[in-house]
Amino acid sequence: MLKNINPTQSPAWKQLDSHYQQIKDKHMREMFEQDPDRFTRFSLQFEHILLDYSKNRIEQQTMDLLLQLAQQSGLPQAIEDLFSGEKINVTENRPVLHTALRNLDGPPLLVEGQDVMEQVYQELEKIKTFSSRIISGQWKGFTGKSITDIVNIGIGGSDLGPAMVTEALTPYHQGPQPHFVSNVDGTHISETLKNLNPETTLFMVSSKSFTTQETMANAKTARDWFIKHTSPARDIGKHFVAISTNSRKVKDFGIDTMFTFWDWVGGRYSLWSSIGLSIACSIGYDNFYQLLKGAQAMDWHFRQAPLDKNMPVILALLGIWYNNFFKAQSQAILPYDQYLSRFPAYLQQLEMESNGKNTGRNKKPVNYHTGSIIWGQPGTNGQHAFYQLIHQGTKLIPCDFLAAIESHSPLGEHHQMLLSNYLAQTEALMRGKTRPEAEEELKKEGKTAEEIENLAPFKIFEGNRPTNSIFYKKLTPYLLGSLIALYEHKVFVQGIIWDIYSFDQWGVELGKMLANGILPQLKGKEKAANHDSSTNGLINYYLDNRKEPN
Ligand code: F6P
Repeated sequence: MLKNINPTQSPAWKQLDSHYQQIKDKHMREMFEQDPDRFTRFSLQFEHILLDYSKNRIEQQTMDLLLQLAQQSGLPQAIEDLFSGEKINVTENRPVLHTALRNLDGPPLLVEGQDVMEQVYQELEKIKTFSSRIISGQWKGFTGKSITDIVNIGIGGSDLGPAMVTEALTPYHQGPQPHFVSNVDGTHISETLKNLNPETTLFMVSSKSFTTQETMANAKTARDWFIKHTSPARDIGKHFVAISTNSRKVKDFGIDTMFTFWDWVGGRYSLWSSIGLSIACSIGYDNFYQLLKGAQAMDWHFRQAPLDKNMPVILALLGIWYNNFFKAQSQAILPYDQYLSRFPAYLQQLEMESNGKNTGRNKKPVNYHTGSIIWGQPGTNGQHAFYQLIHQGTKLIPCDFLAAIESHSPLGEHHQMLLSNYLAQTEALMRGKTRPEAEEELKKEGKTAEEIENLAPFKIFEGNRPTNSIFYKKLTPYLLGSLIALYEHKVFVQGIIWDIYSFDQWGVELGKMLANGILPQLKGKEKAANHDSSTNGLINYYLDNRKEPN
């Protein structure tokens, strides 16, 4: 059972508080000058992933204290509880076992006396058979043609993971073209359907609950479209499959082919389950298997490595250092890898839905900050857009920079140009530019003394902006599996230390409930009067200005 420990009451937190006072104004330039071994001291390699965390505002004492904080928060026991199937998702009374989904050659895993691995292997077999039939063209549509396009209809965890992974692993595509429809905005599905042929399109309705409003609305629209275009109605069974934990609802919807997973897999941790069917059908089962293998390798590392050599633990502790001591509000994820363009959006759900909580495990409001705001874009695009604020703005924004040593697209000098930017940005953020350096530069440009006086203040960069550099060999399925699991475990560690429950998401319920009440009002004619004046005003403005329903 997870302990309830208010982190701010632990001795390490108190020591970190006073250590922060000593270190907060110290510049990383000075730290690098003082310690020539800083890179070696503060970097860590796991298989083909290097984490360089030396460009952080830390000293050895900082890391020692953060590691003590992890110990005092009961992290080692919590890691064991996670892997051994304890019911650590207390508010939903469930274990948290996404790691079982990639426990490919691990030992049996008993939950309430039942070996969950049996079910996992059975479902993997189903994914293997189905994806090979799709890719080989053996699975035929209603006119006997093979499938050319698959449309995953899902949202949140039933969309973001598969969408991010299929895009990231584009070089491995060998199956039909994948499409993802998530938004209930009709534009999303109509734009997707526009170019599709019903004879060769397969829809995967992905929803853990099979009750999510957006997904159900899109699935019905897809079904109507299919029926309309194949009139008289053809064999829907050849064009719709479902992935869910709710077999009754799937049956009610009229889908016979169902892939399942279990309530101990959280939605945002589900890409490893049959929710990853679209991944397997795009990149092939063997590559999907490699993705799982890579995640499994990171699981073993997380479970076995000592805390000070444990990559997810180090990332998590650095995040806590900035979030709780420097009071940084957000964290940027900056992949210098176009294939990872959806990685920041994926991490937004993973981190913000997991750790955006203000009630501690003791059922009381927390009196410290929890989850960070996660955002980002691929480099180098971000450099020409928002990096200005990271370099010279008033907010401290710790950043994770990610890049591959080897590109999938080795075009001339492109990759070295990309990497030179990747490396230069973290150097610039760390070093900054002093006033004398700025003046010297202006002088070299031939500016007058007066011009230098006027311009120099704007050319100063404080520097001392913290970054992690994650440098990996090549974005293969295996590597991507490890990378995703790295962040999953980072989120877990932070949740444990912040003493919150990371695996529920009650915060998304209120808006859904209110939307259910507002929908009939938008369809009706009665003026709204049961909300606050703003919401009433907006509903009534809509009613006054909409095109009258026929
Ligand atoms: O509303 C939030 C949420 O429950 C997410 O946690 C989940 O990933 C998403 O909705 C989709 O849920 P489902 O897979 O049940 O449709």
